[in-house]
Amino acid sequence: MHIGIIMDGNGRWASEKGLPRSFGHRRGAKTVSEIIKACPDLGISTLTLYAFSTENWKRAAHEVESLMRLFRGYLQAKFLQIIENNIKVTFLGDTSPLPRDILNQMKNLEIKSRSNDGFFLNIAINYGGRDEIIRATKKIVKNVIDKKLNMREIDSHSFSNYLDTAGQKDPDLIIRTAGERRLSNFLLWQISYSELYFSDEMWPEFSKQSLKNAIECYKTRERKFGNLKKIAN
Ligand code: IPE
Ligand code: IPE
Ligand code: MG
Repeated sequence: MHIGIIMDGNGRWASEKGLPRSFGHRRGAKTVSEIIKACPDLGISTLTLYAFSTENWKRAAHEVESLMRLFRGYLQAKFLQIIENNIKVTFLGDTSPLPRDILNQMKNLEIKSRSNDGFFLNIAINYGGRDEIIRATKKIVKNVIDKKLNMREIDSHSFSNYLDTAGQKDPDLIIRTAGERRLSNFLLWQISYSELYFSDEMWPEFSKQSLKNAIECYKTRERKFGNLKKIAN
């Protein structure tokens, strides 16, 4: 099973307690570790986490900086653990505007974890669904111009292979925390038939039990993919 999570509500969680928003992001990072740890037990093979959107640069410079510091620290602290736990990490998004040292760490982690196959972790950083589709389209156009690809070969299957999630199965379930009922540019192509689950909990308070509740709810859904009868999931 592939689950995608829009981890929302760090700022509100902290503000409600009279703490700075960056404190909420730090607590949010703790939740990330707990949720990754909980996945294998719950039958989740792939987890896609939305960490930073292409629109999040609009925030105050100090908040963006504190998030970049957090990514840097998280990657450093978890690097070995991720590799030792047989986790394969893939980063989704346009990495080019990220600080050089973070980018190098990300590349290094992708390379070192490339042959791991125990659990698949996608981290979406500077990710936007529209941006991803545009980047894919540009690659396709270039291949057509260079005569490496024939226009007749472009279909939904081949298109998917130009996305950051190339070769992966689409998410079965998308979870968004903090009560917001929107997708905010997350995996627009890949979620065409995903089930959606919204939790009112803020991301720092989301727990293994919250994840279990989401999965229980998912099990009651009838996935039809345009057909008339239920397709086993
Ligand atoms: C989610 O929490 C984390 C990121 C978007 C980076 P927010 O920072 O959006 O928290 P709220 O929504 O303002 O509470
Ligand atoms: C979505 O949350 C992005 C991430 C969780 C990384 P936002 O907080 O940025 O979304 P909006 O602005 O409320 O739609
Ligand atoms: Mg938010």
